[in-house]
Amino acid sequence: MASETEQHHAIDTMLLEERTYPPPPEFAKQANAQPDIYEQDFEAFWEREGRERLTWFEPFTKLYEWEPPFAKWYLGGKLNVSYNCLDRHVEQGRGDKVAYHWEGEPAGEQRAITYADLQREVATFANALKKLGVKKGTPVAIYMGMVPELPVAMLACTRIGAPHTVVFGGFSADSLSGRMNDMECEVLITQDEAWRRGTTVALKKTADEAMADAPGVRTCVVLRRTGNEVPMQEGRDVWWHDAIDGVGDDCPPEQMDSEDLLFLMYTSGTTAKPKGIIHTTAGYLCGVATTHHYIFDLKPETDVYWCAADIGWITGHSYIVYGPLCNGATSVMYEGTPDFPDKDRWWDIIERYGVTILYTAPTAIRSHMKWGPEYAQKHDLSSLRLLGSVGEPINPEAWIWYREHIGADSTPVVDTWWQTETGMIMITPLPGVTTLKPGSATKPFPGVDAGVFDEQGNEVGPGGGGYLVLKRPWPSMLRGIFKDPDRYKETYWSKYENVYFAGDGARIDRDADYWLLGRVDDVMNVAGHRISTIEVESALVDHQEVAEAAVCSRKDATTGEAIVAYVTLKGGKEGSVEKLAELRDHVAKKIGPIAKPANIVFTPELPKTRSGKIMRRLLRDVAENRPLGDTTTLADPTVVSEIQNRAQSEGTEES
Ligand code: WT7
Repeated sequence: MASETEQHHAIDTMLLEERTYPPPPEFAKQANAQPDIYEQDFEAFWEREGRERLTWFEPFTKLYEWEPPFAKWYLGGKLNVSYNCLDRHVEQGRGDKVAYHWEGEPAGEQRAITYADLQREVATFANALKKLGVKKGTPVAIYMGMVPELPVAMLACTRIGAPHTVVFGGFSADSLSGRMNDMECEVLITQDEAWRRGTTVALKKTADEAMADAPGVRTCVVLRRTGNEVPMQEGRDVWWHDAIDGVGDDCPPEQMDSEDLLFLMYTSGTTAKPKGIIHTTAGYLCGVATTHHYIFDLKPETDVYWCAADIGWITGHSYIVYGPLCNGATSVMYEGTPDFPDKDRWWDIIERYGVTILYTAPTAIRSHMKWGPEYAQKHDLSSLRLLGSVGEPINPEAWIWYREHIGADSTPVVDTWWQTETGMIMITPLPGVTTLKPGSATKPFPGVDAGVFDEQGNEVGPGGGGYLVLKRPWPSMLRGIFKDPDRYKETYWSKYENVYFAGDGARIDRDADYWLLGRVDDVMNVAGHRISTIEVESALVDHQEVAEAAVCSRKDATTGEAIVAYVTLKGGKEGSVEKLAELRDHVAKKIGPIAKPANIVFTPELPKTRSGKIMRRLLRDVAENRPLGDTTTLADPTVVSEIQNRAQSEGTEES
């Protein structure tokens, strides 16, 4: 649970925030969303979007079926995702339109990929996969950086009905093998190395370590990206360019059922084992394309849209690949970091491609704030007409800075709340319709029924706070947790009956606008990445010298939250600077660099209740230098003051 003090702090800042930004009339006039969109009946809305936004081989016969907590959407329909994202645009004469302006990290590397190009590459690679024995239903893992071949690989899987799981390139070998084993993947698609901040990331090397623990993977396709030499295992590994050599580009799209598995996206929960979130074909595609159309006000003929996320997360799946391509958008796709070769790389990209819509995370905005507005001022950003934010609560200062320095103090800013599980944006302003408030995600998307409940399940009124819930199914909702229906029920559907519990705290103000307050469970949000406290604790105790570990987060001015670990070493050993570095590296090796604790406090004991439960709430108070809450339930109250002293003297911080 987020501590009381923290929630109150969030609420206080929020109540001070009274600036409002009504929609500019010029924007409102041309907007895809008009005010009457909220008046539509939810079934009629999703029925129409389903029929008009997607192209069907066979139309659906029933909108949805809801047997709580299991939903099905667009029942009886047959369609193909890659056909919807590519072929139909080409058939309608839009083959020459650019799908992706791809920008490599090394200066000067660019590719403009049209819809016709992408269609050909996808069909060719799909045929190559078929030759490698991939069939409808064969699970495929993808472990790549932000190269054009990543969406090609995903779409090729959808073309032949092979479900994929994309694993973020920053994850460790253990994380990759865990996911591949859970999904029972037979094929892995990766690349030699990726470019990041001017250096290379050894993806194939990590993939090799992962495959050593994932014996089910029989084939590994390797894209040549940096060209540095990597070991290839005879009989298992095949170069991408060899796999497509001599393969034709005629590959009829598989007719998939609306409810066929499209992909799994693993995400951290409150236990050590990530959950395989299930997304299916029609509902997911319709949900992401519909939200993309209205929330980003996409005009496919004129807009240049850029979602600066990584495709390895749900944001990239929904709003770099499936939503934008389904809508025929022209997108920018960028391989590297925002500060390479210098801190104006993003603004240079926006100027050169004439980006009109930018979607990014508060943590990135706060980095740019820290670097200063002069980097943005060096470039002409006047093409921008809409800005979006996602991933964590956006503080009003960051919201205002974003609008002022990036959006010429005039563009709408849409703060979009959603999750891996929801598949699509759920709470958001509609640009041109909604009056914006810095720090508020404002209203549920049309057709979405959200609410804020108290502990007992009563709806809190305007001005109240509690838990964010979703009260009826939506097309792109998760269909479950892979191979674990009990965990699905327990995690999302056990707190309230037939109501989805999101795990976020929220408040609702007098105008019925939503203010998201962060997670209320043991999930942390570090730079928009979701990390479980228990996962980091498990990684720490996996180290041979660690007896016990407790992990929590503290506030951080740039990353939102930062990870703090309290560690007791075996045999009463004292910690050291070397041990600290070793433990941080151990966590990076077990999970990935994103999960490295910012601080580690070595302590002879952890604060526990008399029943032996670690009191994380107190550890958070220590981490944030707050007066301690109630310590009377502690078995040994002196333990916390000892930890406080150590936290002040030993806590080390690195990035
Ligand atoms: C968690 C979901 C799907 C977007 C990427 C993260 C937090 C997300 C917001 C927002 C406040 C937000 C929530 C949510 N979150 N967007 N606009 N305002 N909080 O996806 O990894 O599944 O994490 O991110 O806490 O539960 P995810």
